[in-house]
Amino acid sequence: MNVSVIGTGYVGATTSAALAELGHQVIGVDVDQKKVGMLNAGRLPFYEEGLETLMQALLKKGALAFTTDLARAVTGSDILFLTVGTPSQADGSANLRDLEQAVRQIGRALNGHKIIVSKSTVPVGTGERVKAWLQEEVTKRGLSIPFDVVSNPEFLREGKALHDALHPERIVIGCESDKARAMMTKLYQGMQTDFCYTTVRDAEMIKYASNSFLATKISFMNELARLCEQTDTSISKVAHGMGLDSRIGSQFLRAGIGYGGSCFPKDVEALLHLARENGVPLRLLDAVATVNREQSGWFLQKVRTALGTLSGKQIALLGLTFKPGTDDIREAPALKLIPVLLAAGAQITAYDPKGMEAVGRLHPKVRCAKDAYAALDGADAALLLTEWPEFLKLDFARVIGSMRKALFFDGRNALDGAKMRSYGFTYDGVGERG
Ligand code: UGA
Repeated sequence: MNVSVIGTGYVGATTSAALAELGHQVIGVDVDQKKVGMLNAGRLPFYEEGLETLMQALLKKGALAFTTDLARAVTGSDILFLTVGTPSQADGSANLRDLEQAVRQIGRALNGHKIIVSKSTVPVGTGERVKAWLQEEVTKRGLSIPFDVVSNPEFLREGKALHDALHPERIVIGCESDKARAMMTKLYQGMQTDFCYTTVRDAEMIKYASNSFLATKISFMNELARLCEQTDTSISKVAHGMGLDSRIGSQFLRAGIGYGGSCFPKDVEALLHLARENGVPLRLLDAVATVNREQSGWFLQKVRTALGTLSGKQIALLGLTFKPGTDDIREAPALKLIPVLLAAGAQITAYDPKGMEAVGRLHPKVRCAKDAYAALDGADAALLLTEWPEFLKLDFARVIGSMRKALFFDGRNALDGAKMRSYGFTYDGVGERG
């Protein structure tokens, strides 16, 4: 099938590559000429494991190409995916400006029946708005062209996006006609997974509900971790015991310094906004967001208490990205901690394998070290904020000799506490026995 993917962020680029790998002819479309040039040269503007290599092979094979010419992509395609960004606005609602612009352009170029698929995370009811925008543009041209609007949300994790796109745990298809259902089924033929067919509205809600539920699991554990510290219990042991129950599941029970990234915080706020709009307050989800906002401050309070004051102290930050395997620092807990540390008069040395450039631009006062050892050299306290695998393999006997004070705060419970203490560190995790 001929497919266009409009918007080449990490969702769009990954979707393009996965669909081309599945055997379709794919055109990725973006308004950014520079980005399109990079992509056509086989270079990704962001880091995503395995994607660049696959993209290069698909470009060479001719199965994938990128363009700024949306109209041409529309006329040559059977299915058009919308993967443009839907960022948060001040009131938590999603900004649909880019989406509307792309949809209206599609409407102006429509030349026969097409399926327009929303993959971007959009509020319930957006499918109907997409339909109306398309209809308006087609009518303006004095034409009557049939089309179908489908919601097919993505569940890709950054850092594992390609794997998730090629081996999804489920494919949710929200559609209103047999024709659309048949075409979407044909598109994904060959993928061994569960298909969930619903209405467009249900599919839109499934995406928000899924991310919000995962965020709920995390905030539940983060709040419980605070109680574990007061009751001489270990949150990671508790999580393990809980997770053995298949009704609970073992994933997303890791306590830490809070969830970040471009999805969870934004989607939780968007669902809360939708709830307020509909007069159905979601009190539980409200608390989920509050716990998450507080978590990094609660963690920092432990550091402050241990040091007496943050003023004049040298703090080493290990990890800046919102999670390992990505260069994305959006809503990363590190970005909440840095301004507070600086305002309190601390000096920060930081190291992250992928996130230094972006943080360096935002916070020129943060000293970016060449590696973890350099960041830790002379530090009064170390704060592990992202559980990059290389931090777990550090030579801690060397580290302890280079730090001014052997205080180690593990914001991800990534290290073995007993082992760290055996090196001589005063080690503190999140919700673990002191
Ligand atoms: C998330 C979802 O997992 C994807 O299914 C979804 O498609 C995506 O959002 C999206 O909406 O586009 P992502 O934001 O890439 O994916 O990251 P996750 O791996 O889900 O992690 C989110 C945050 O939760 C990270 O900051 C991570 O450190 C934190 N986390 C995760 C915890 O604190 N504890 C856990 O147990 C798990």
